[in-house]
Amino acid sequence: MPENTLTVTDNRTNKTYTLPIENGTIRGMDLRQIKTGAEDFGLMSYDPAFMNTASCKSAITFIDGDRGILRYRGYNIEDLAENCTYLQVAYLLLFGELPDQKQTREWVDKITHHTMLHETTKEFMHRFRHDAHPMGVLTSTVAALSTVYPEAKNIHDPENRMLQIIRLVAKMPTMAAYSYRHSLGFPYVYPDNELTYTENFMNMLWKMVEPKYVANPVLARALDILFILHADHEQNCSTNTMRCVGSSHPDPYLAVSGACAALAGPLHGGANEAVLIMLAEIGDKRNIPDYIKRIKEGKGKLMGFGHRVYKNYDPRARIIKQIADQVFQVTGKNPKLEIALELEKIALEDEYFVTRKLYPNVDFYSGIIYQAMGFLPEMFTVLFAIPRTVGWLAQWNEMLEDKEQKISRPRQVYIGHALRKIDGTKFATVKSAVGR
Ligand code: CMC
Repeated sequence: MPENTLTVTDNRTNKTYTLPIENGTIRGMDLRQIKTGAEDFGLMSYDPAFMNTASCKSAITFIDGDRGILRYRGYNIEDLAENCTYLQVAYLLLFGELPDQKQTREWVDKITHHTMLHETTKEFMHRFRHDAHPMGVLTSTVAALSTVYPEAKNIHDPENRMLQIIRLVAKMPTMAAYSYRHSLGFPYVYPDNELTYTENFMNMLWKMVEPKYVANPVLARALDILFILHADHEQNCSTNTMRCVGSSHPDPYLAVSGACAALAGPLHGGANEAVLIMLAEIGDKRNIPDYIKRIKEGKGKLMGFGHRVYKNYDPRARIIKQIADQVFQVTGKNPKLEIALELEKIALEDEYFVTRKLYPNVDFYSGIIYQAMGFLPEMFTVLFAIPRTVGWLAQWNEMLEDKEQKISRPRQVYIGHALRKIDGTKFATVKSAVGR
């Protein structure tokens, strides 16, 4: 018997099957041959929420959830956060290698020269209600770009694909900043080509009447590192959405819009906003034990805690905690930090959280930093979407080049009625209505 195989005996038929094992997986389709008879459709696996199903092969991001390891293209996240800029990491995710100096210059130049929005897109954004949530504005506006760049639907041309990728990476901060300015009723600020990616974003957010806005370098770098930490996270809910929507071959603006929508939920990217709401609700360290008690009674979740993959401390949360010190030296301490630290301490000692391996995730501390930097909580998920865009696009690109991928189309286990007939004497059917 070959070593890399799985032998399965179907006790219904007493037949034995040998299934190949590759990369620690068996092929779901190999189960289909297991049948009770010619009429039988064949065995399927049932896996709601993809708890144990690999949907693709990917060479982009590696996570070891038990050991708290995150790597992009083989580099540890700690190493990248310490030594690279966000745009270099974006290049790494897309092209597989870190750029040298010349490649960095050319890449940054390309991104910088695609940051402007078409004036009609600006007008489009202007029409949202004044109190529209920035995430709804961003999601809709990304979809609207599909109408501005109709050639983007030519997704089988790699050069055309790359142009749309550059546009998306470049324009996300512009759309994000415009959505924020719109919610405050402030005039839009155009991009400034002399600035770095994060400085330019900060300029578009916060420039008022001063002739030149100067971003604080500590805050600009902190934001850049936060962008690195959020750039990709393998097959999470929004990335899976990007691949799923992308698998029917729409243009990337529509697929990224779908991914933004998935990110917006409080169980995913919306958690950073939810953490701030939770900390405000707790209000004081003294209220923490009561709050934890309620969580343990099943009355809600501790937002910013727990992860489908990490069953150890999220390495991103650890880096964010370090950045927090640098940010707070500039901005002054966010009073919510004390509550968060105490909450973490109590939760990490509590049997409920220990046995379920619930640790702080990336969202637990990011919102506290963002708030100290001057962002409103409604902007937090948008701050997640900007850098994650490159991860979505790298995964989309990889999917389109993967010969094994097809349109995403899961199976279901039908548990509804068997065939039924309509009883015309009981219900008003078309027949009885016409007859009347
Ligand atoms: N607070 C309290 N209990 C929790 C929490 C939490 N935050 N997370 C999980 N649990 C419990 C859950 O109730 C379950 O308990 P039991 O076994 O008694 O039923 C057990 O832990 C296992 O949890 P699960 O719901 O099966 O885990 P999951 O993998 O389906 O969910 C999660 C992962 C992230 C959606 C969940 O932990 C959660 O809702 N966390 C809060 C929201 C959050 O912080 N989301 C951000 C995730 S990180 C950023 C990102 O990638 O988007």
